[in-house]
Amino acid sequence: MNKTINILVVDDEKAIRDGCHRVLTGKGYAVVTAENGKIALDILLKEAIDIILLDLKMPVMGGEEILGIVRKTYPDIPVIIITGHGTVDTAVVCMKSGAYDFITKPFQIDQFLLTITRAAEKRRLEQKAIQLKEENMRNLYDLNLEKSRLKAIINRMANGVMVTNRNLEVVLHNPALMRLMEMSTEIENPAPISRITDERSLIDTLKQILTGEFPEEESISQEIEAGKRTLRAISAPALGPDKNIAGTVTVLEDITAYKQLDQMKSDFVNMVAHELRSPLVSIRQINSVLIEGLAGPLAEKQQEFVKRGMNKIDSLLELINDLLDVARIEAGKMVQHRVPTDMGRIIEETVALMGPRAQEQGIHLTHSCEGLKPVLADPKNMEEVINNLVSNAVNYSPEGGLVMIIARGLAEYMEIKVEDTGVGISPEELPKIFDKFYRVKHPKTRQVMGTGLGLAIVKGVVEAHHGTIDVESVVDRGTTFRVLLPMIV
Ligand SMILES: Nc1ncnc2c1ncn2[C@@H]1O[C@H](COP(=O)(O)OP(=O)(O)OP(=O)(O)O)[C@@H](O)[C@H]1O
Ligand SMILES: [Mg+2]
Repeated sequence: MNKTINILVVDDEKAIRDGCHRVLTGKGYAVVTAENGKIALDILLKEAIDIILLDLKMPVMGGEEILGIVRKTYPDIPVIIITGHGTVDTAVVCMKSGAYDFITKPFQIDQFLLTITRAAEKRRLEQKAIQLKEENMRNLYDLNLEKSRLKAIINRMANGVMVTNRNLEVVLHNPALMRLMEMSTEIENPAPISRITDERSLIDTLKQILTGEFPEEESISQEIEAGKRTLRAISAPALGPDKNIAGTVTVLEDITAYKQLDQMKSDFVNMVAHELRSPLVSIRQINSVLIEGLAGPLAEKQQEFVKRGMNKIDSLLELINDLLDVARIEAGKMVQHRVPTDMGRIIEETVALMGPRAQEQGIHLTHSCEGLKPVLADPKNMEEVINNLVSNAVNYSPEGGLVMIIARGLAEYMEIKVEDTGVGISPEELPKIFDKFYRVKHPKTRQVMGTGLGLAIVKGVVEAHHGTIDVESVVDRGTTFRVLLPMIV
């Protein structure tokens, strides 16, 4: 709604003042009157006036003089000169010195109102313009405040932040990034990414993000080396207002200390496992001597107890071997020697070895091999892969289940599927089963002994042989592990 326009009428003639007051208030204007210039200036000091109607000929202070003061002090208020026929020339002079318009006495009421309406409109438009300008300034101020707040937060963060545009130029970075990347000279934005990092894997990831190869909501985590530090870089697409990929955002964290700690833990586990193995192997040998009766015959009960002890020793040795394997995989020393290896034979041997146990558990074990060529691999490692997958399939299947090993050659790769009709793995558990020591808590498989290292070893071995492993599973239906390994072609 429009604000009421305040009009100040300055005229020494009471009749004019009253007339204006009556006509203008009738049209919705607020009117104040002054009989001379002095009073008018007083009113201007106290009230917000929008339009002045000013008589030229007045005692005390003439209209021209008042106009001069008003133009100087209140340049935005339009002044309409009231003039008699004799003073038209002066009115024209007044227009030149800044009056908005003039009206002649006696007033033609329509003309009079038209002039006032125009002046009021001008005043309203000007006020609107001022209001818009103020709003604009306020918005700019808020924006600046928000910007400087964000800047302060990013600059104080302990993690490095790097934002690039579509051309892979760095458009924003913070002091933590400079510190983590061990850079001493400040760089100007935008800068080519090579000024900050030459780490290929990170640059490749950012390029892939820009070409939209990853889902937009996904962030890619990777470890990179920067000088003596190891950093975790988590990168994601930066979306523009149109929701298109406008660049990339990477947050970098220093994980050097965690890596050192992890290494210390691995070294410790490795050392303990080694130290435990030698005495255990000795105890096992002593037990074999007892079982075989080489230290004198054993009574049936004694024989049974020694055998039970032997089983425990065997599972302990298995655990120790698994721990040593994991340590070797982590140190990248798993594959000792690679020779052309016949996977078909390894599969057959595994089936022969596991057959009796499967049968004992009421599980039918089948296999088929087709079009296989040798793979360049460490046979011991490959035995471990097949053995772990098949023993899982047997262990996690109820009685009456079916376990199938299907191996076939596919151009350059060999595909080995280990399928079972067992308890299955829920979608939430599925991503975790390859983690070290991870075991699914399932009421039906509670009795199965294990350490949760098998699949970690399988994955480590397969990847060390440039292969891949994936898994599909439906709860209560079964699970299929699929290994792809490059064949010698
Ligand atoms: N074929 C399968 N069907 C259902 N669950 C499985 C299957 N294979 C693995 N799992 C689940 O994944 C977990 C991890 O398997 P993994 O082989 O790594 O460890 P484990 O069998 O528990 O112990 P071990 O180190 O002795 O092999 C298992 O505990 C089991 O819950
Ligand atoms: Mg297992």
